[in-house]
Amino acid sequence: MHGFSYRNGELFCEDVSLKSLAEEHGTPLYVYSAGTITDHFIRLDKALAGVDHEIAYAVKANSNLSVLRLLATKGAGFDIVSGGELFRVIKAGGDPAHCTFAGVGKTRAEIIYALEQGIYSFNVESEEELRYLNEVAGELGKIAPAAVRVNPNVDAKTHKYISTGKSENKFGVDFTAIPDLYARAAAELPNIRLRGLQMHIGSQLTSIDPFIEAVEKVIPMVSALKAKHGIEFWSIGGGIGIVYQDSLQSGTPGWWSSKAESERPLTIEKYGQELVPRIKDLGLKILLEPGRYIVGNAGVLVTRCLYEKKGSAKTFKIVDAGMNDLIRPALYEGHHEIVPLIEPTSSELTKVDVVGPICESGDFFCQDRPLPDFQPGDAVALMSAGAYGFVMASNYNSRPLPAEILVEGGDATLVRKRQTLEDLIEGEL
Ligand code: LLP
Repeated sequence: MHGFSYRNGELFCEDVSLKSLAEEHGTPLYVYSAGTITDHFIRLDKALAGVDHEIAYAVKANSNLSVLRLLATKGAGFDIVSGGELFRVIKAGGDPAHCTFAGVGKTRAEIIYALEQGIYSFNVESEEELRYLNEVAGELGKIAPAAVRVNPNVDAKTHKYISTGKSENKFGVDFTAIPDLYARAAAELPNIRLRGLQMHIGSQLTSIDPFIEAVEKVIPMVSALKAKHGIEFWSIGGGIGIVYQDSLQSGTPGWWSSKAESERPLTIEKYGQELVPRIKDLGLKILLEPGRYIVGNAGVLVTRCLYEKKGSAKTFKIVDAGMNDLIRPALYEGHHEIVPLIEPTSSELTKVDVVGPICESGDFFCQDRPLPDFQPGDAVALMSAGAYGFVMASNYNSRPLPAEILVEGGDATLVRKRQTLEDLIEGEL
């Protein structure tokens, strides 16, 4: 489900017209649907109902305080990757005791901050890090709860920049090295409490098979670690893919309704049906770290067309959002549907490039894509921009960051102000 659809010829987010939001707040503008975020959280929770579990939302996907607060009120824990994300979670009313801390390069300051806040587990990515964590915890007179991230060497079959579970990736500890590492940690590291095991094989997985392969491979290991070291949890990571193409599906007929084979959804129900029977009797608490699944289709980036430029080879629609606002197409060849805020009256499509104002040839949102006509002054929505959208935005070309709006039913709340020119130079001496 997602909360975006045409009503009487205008694109709405829940009960609010995007056109009116664009007029009131300007563009580029991120708009999120609270109902969609909640719906996704509840559906995942239900799909895992047969097993003792906790959803630790991957904060990196969208760390707006209001999004975090919404998820905290629904009972989410949080998977963080920096001291900054922990700070945000705490500010949003999240409980550090329900936070896991991932990442290959935790600094001393971050470790101390997380120890002081009493997080649930450090998800450690190397023996060197585990030894350092033991040392810092000792200095503070604390015991650090930890899980090691196992790299199961499974091909997630996703874009190479977001695949993490193969031996050649920098993440985690080799599958074969895990038993000895736990044994050494138990014998030699008095300030570590081995609390669990973690894995995550990649992001935007659109098939259940790699999940099954990884889970089946790691089950004997996690059972042995429970028997030997009394671990209590197994985090099976995030990575559940979403539909980027045809994201206005739900039966609405139109030019966007053809769905590429490669983008068929991995439904959350299937994820639950396949995984729950395999993991429910392990006697372990199962943690999940979804980011994109919760927020991806819950957000759009609204941008206005500035110019139409007809070159000899192509027609360019130049819009006021750029790769600094949404970098996924440039960085991962990510596909985002482009949908006019006013429903097209004609079914005619023209091949265009939609590009931003940044001085880079990689600054495009689509190339040679058949789209319905829109003209300078018209606004369009870049769909499925709720995950890894605003959080990856930058001030490149000295462009102020866009504003963010959270819609709940008929209420639209400005949850982050658009940056001003003064904001751009704040902190510079
Ligand atoms: N857990 C760990 C340890 C992770 O590294 C990640 C994502 C997640 C959970 C959440 O994965 P998700 O459920 O969102 O797939 N910027 C890229 C995605 C990078 C993902 C990084 N790690 C993109 O825009 O596609």
